[in-house]
Amino acid sequence: MTQRVSSKAQTFTESVIREMTRLIGDRHGERGINLAQGFPDFAAPQVVKDAACDAIQNDINQYAITWGAKDFRDALAAKTHRFLGMEIDPEREITVCCGATEAMFCALVATLNPGDEVVIFSPFYENYGPDCILSGAVPRFVKLHPPDWTFDRDELESVFNDRTRGVVINTPHNPTGKVYSRDELEFIADLCRRHDALVFTDEIYEHMTYDGVEHVCIATLPGMRDRSIVVNGLSKTYSVTGWRVGYTIAPPDITDAIRKVHDFITVGAAAPLQAAGAVALALPDEYYTKLQHEYLERRDFLLDGLERTGFKAYKPQGAYYIIAEIEGFGFENDVEFTRYLIEEHALAVVPGSSFYTDPAEGRTQIRFCFAKRMSTLERAVEALSHVAARV
Ligand SMILES: Cc1ncc(COP(=O)(O)O)c(C=O)c1O
Repeated sequence: MTQRVSSKAQTFTESVIREMTRLIGDRHGERGINLAQGFPDFAAPQVVKDAACDAIQNDINQYAITWGAKDFRDALAAKTHRFLGMEIDPEREITVCCGATEAMFCALVATLNPGDEVVIFSPFYENYGPDCILSGAVPRFVKLHPPDWTFDRDELESVFNDRTRGVVINTPHNPTGKVYSRDELEFIADLCRRHDALVFTDEIYEHMTYDGVEHVCIATLPGMRDRSIVVNGLSKTYSVTGWRVGYTIAPPDITDAIRKVHDFITVGAAAPLQAAGAVALALPDEYYTKLQHEYLERRDFLLDGLERTGFKAYKPQGAYYIIAEIEGFGFENDVEFTRYLIEEHALAVVPGSSFYTDPAEGRTQIRFCFAKRMSTLERAVEALSHVAARV
């Protein structure tokens, strides 16, 4: 029989993160505790939900401009100026996409040619691997080393070469919670300037930083605006992961290319949700302070629970995940341990191996998501208290 599936589609597997969410639902239904996929189990802000309902009732139900409704792009420019101090032209530098996921994909497809190399820090958010394959680029991985997930500067410098077209950064970082320091970003920026490379910076967790750690956007560093593509979205900041609204901020020539790719992939993001998004982006500073405060509380609660259970957990500086080492529990690897947690304790987490190209690198790690109600985290910690070492 002829090959019915493309070689590209065969080079990656389905998302392990999304698979875990399905598994816990199928196996345990409502009883299951899902600390796997990164989405909140609590409500989005009422004012934002009301704005979405109003938009539909007010007949904002047809296609928005393909690269984003004007009001929404204006609100994005205002909010970006408020938090990052960047002046951006909503007419020429913003493309609204179906989530940061589509935004990153369009950015890579719009700028990379087959054979171009892209540097990715590992562990990494699992979409970046398939994104590179689909855009024809070759990923070059550079390790982030625990406990503080720093990279070796010589190693990073050594992977840059004539074919390097870009670097993917994700700060605050999924899965480790690393927040790249200004000094690290300056080092990366310097390499990009020297090698004429672009930076794709995924900042979807920009408002989740803890312990006074500062989020820095590499596009704000000297000379970097013109070589940075900022990828972001509403999903995490406003607890609306199902809305699928994201965006890129990029120089005009790159934005032109991103808009074309985006147009032919999805035409546009949901019009009423862009209208509601404009309301979300105008929320006062207190919204962000409260968000951060509540996530800090959740982080500390789960961290404490994990440590009491006997995990060695790495304290995240940002985002809403915790990586923990499972070595003390006597399981063969992360996948076996994850299966055991689902089967025996109705608790879903993500096996560490799904964040590395070589599964062996993540075989002693699992990832917990703490974007959950305190009551869910309490149930998770209670479930974990019954996890005993199998030695
Ligand atoms: C680093 C990172 N980027 C992007 C996304 C997805 O964003 P969106 O829902 O806007 O597609 C996630 C979701 O977990 C993520 O962790």
